[in-house]
Amino acid sequence: MRQLIRPSHSADHADPAALEALADTYAYPEQVAAGRPWLRANMVGSLDGAAKLSGLSEGLSGDADKRIFGVLRALADVVLVGAETVRAEGYRPARARADFAAARAAAGQAPAPVIAIVSRSLVLDLDAPLFTEALVRTVVIAPEDAPAAALTAVRKVADVITTGRGGVDLTAAQAELTARGWTRQLTEGGPRLLAQLAADGLLDELCLSLAPLLTAGDAPRIMHGVEMADAQRMRLVSLIEQKGFLFTRYCRTPE
Ligand SMILES: NC(=O)c1ccc[n+]([C@@H]2O[C@H](COP(=O)([O-])OP(=O)(O)OC[C@H]3O[C@@H](n4cnc5c(N)ncnc54)[C@H](OP(=O)(O)O)[C@@H]3O)[C@@H](O)[C@H]2O)c1
Repeated sequence: MRQLIRPSHSADHADPAALEALADTYAYPEQVAAGRPWLRANMVGSLDGAAKLSGLSEGLSGDADKRIFGVLRALADVVLVGAETVRAEGYRPARARADFAAARAAAGQAPAPVIAIVSRSLVLDLDAPLFTEALVRTVVIAPEDAPAAALTAVRKVADVITTGRGGVDLTAAQAELTARGWTRQLTEGGPRLLAQLAADGLLDELCLSLAPLLTAGDAPRIMHGVEMADAQRMRLVSLIEQKGFLFTRYCRTPE
């Protein structure tokens, strides 16, 4: 047994205010520079496993969680997200951050990650800033048999990837993102998309923020829906504590 953390009131280690230290802690593995993708998920849950509170993740989050959320975005090439999260959370484009500008430029990255939305219905607000103000054109990933008129409308404001029929083939979608040079991949869920990514064997890493809250109720877990054929064993890579929140980073164990 190892004690990985000290109580926050006496600890200054892994101070989430130190962006550089956080960027180091959450650095993508070297394979991304060689064109091999790495898919990380960033999610927050309550102690009793809820992935949302009053319909949103906001109520589970806190300052340090938001800081890590921002750092993970700042490290990523692309943020993959389910359409329901975009609708529920009113997603906006990722912003370019001055404190990461030099590192991103050195790594050959755009100033901000692209947001890539997975949707079957294509019920999206195409007048929203996510489509009208994005620094890097937003991507929409839809099945080949998505509603044709909606696809035409989306193409006017976003880059469209179509793959799979009836639903997006997520393995092929990841390959398309990788082919665009976006190997530092981050998904922010939601639970239904994340479950599929895990079940399809695409998830390399889970950054789970554990909020010091009990919520009860019937909120979904951070992965919800499809079953995985086999449970995936994960290994703890880092653990940061602040104000009772635990910020875990788990990577899958090699097979
Ligand atoms: N705790 C956290 O960290 C966290 C993170 C994110 C979100 N959330 C919360 O979770 C809720 C939303 O999550 P959710 O699980 O309901 O939905 P979600 O995973 O965000 O999105 C589901 C939607 O994505 C599209 N989709 C997913 N898989 C697809 C596939 N294979 N092919 C085509 N389209 C696909 C569909 O969009 P269409 O309906 O457009 O077809 C589907 O309805 C919100 O309340 C949000 O606040 C919590």
